[in-house]
Amino acid sequence: MTDHRLWAREAIRIIEADFQRSADTHLIPLPLPGFADVDLYFKDESSHPTGSLKHRLARSLFLYALCNGWLRPGAPVIEASSGSTAISEAYFARLLGLPFIAVVPASTSQEKITQIAFYGGQSHLVDDPTQIYAESERLARESGGHFMDQFTYAERATDWRANNNIAESIYSQMRFERHPEPSWLISSPGTGGTTATLGRYVRYRQHTTRVLCADAERSVFFDSYKSGDRSLQLDCGSRIEGIGRPRVEASFLPHVIDAMVKVPDALSLAAMHYLAKRLGRRVGGSSGTNLIGALIAARQMRTAGEAGSIVAILCDGGDRYATSYYDQDWLTKQGYQLQEVIEAVTACVERGEALPETILCEGI
Ligand SMILES: Cc1ncc(COP(=O)(O)O)c(C=O)c1O
Repeated sequence: MTDHRLWAREAIRIIEADFQRSADTHLIPLPLPGFADVDLYFKDESSHPTGSLKHRLARSLFLYALCNGWLRPGAPVIEASSGSTAISEAYFARLLGLPFIAVVPASTSQEKITQIAFYGGQSHLVDDPTQIYAESERLARESGGHFMDQFTYAERATDWRANNNIAESIYSQMRFERHPEPSWLISSPGTGGTTATLGRYVRYRQHTTRVLCADAERSVFFDSYKSGDRSLQLDCGSRIEGIGRPRVEASFLPHVIDAMVKVPDALSLAAMHYLAKRLGRRVGGSSGTNLIGALIAARQMRTAGEAGSIVAILCDGGDRYATSYYDQDWLTKQGYQLQEVIEAVTACVERGEALPETILCEGI
């Protein structure tokens, strides 16, 4: 065997051994008093060692790159990220002794940059969020490293049929519930990879579950889903870290999605604050987006006279947003007045009332 094959073999063993030492993430019920016939659960991806759903993706991307022969001992790994993926990839790069450079928008929370450094990674800040891809390619070219490119490879690096992917884990954890087969799975798109895994899995396993994808305000995914136009572009980044993109990423697969909604950012952040209060701990903004998606699905079920369950993704914890989404001064400076919106989210969850702002819906 060549030295490179031997190195890759050992690297794969190290990642698989790390996986064996890891536990699955929890599925947490969140009662909805306003919807007596709907059982809502959150798949808590914040309990991964690196704190987000991106831990699964980072493991898959490293294994995919190793099995493709793309990584070399000593050669840097480079990633374009809004932060969460970079934290998780820094963890795996350190496990393999590889240098890691994260190319992140300058607006990324300081807590995330500190976490990347904690795992030995370097952050390369880019003022224009639409330039993170080109900058990553340049760095990889000039350093002889490898650009991981989650936005292209997320959907194909994950084993969508099973192998303890997020979907298989959800169905296994739901086995003894009142409604074991969810009526809806709710996920929000960054790469689109998690949504792709969920959508493919429910089809492959012949479930009747529908997949609802909840997009952010400053993002092209919803409009592209509606129009079929994959060339749409925006010149600004999303304000909900981790989700919403200025271009339609290759890993976004519209044909495995049953419905989409576009959630105003203020509503996502209000729902995030409400969810944090209910759970007794902070969660990230995209988990708020998913709560709104779940409430729209719950209202649709009630209208249709349907009893059943919904599973939404709790994407990451909220401590990494302590100086932004959880800082009143920061919220005020950004122009957010959340109190009334939080009350409206509370009224929806607790009394089944309508949500306040215009939420664009397609397929539901
Ligand atoms: C906090 C957070 N939520 C949700 C997502 C979306 O996941 P995916 O990239 O699988 O679409 C991301 C992706 O970066 C994220 O960081």
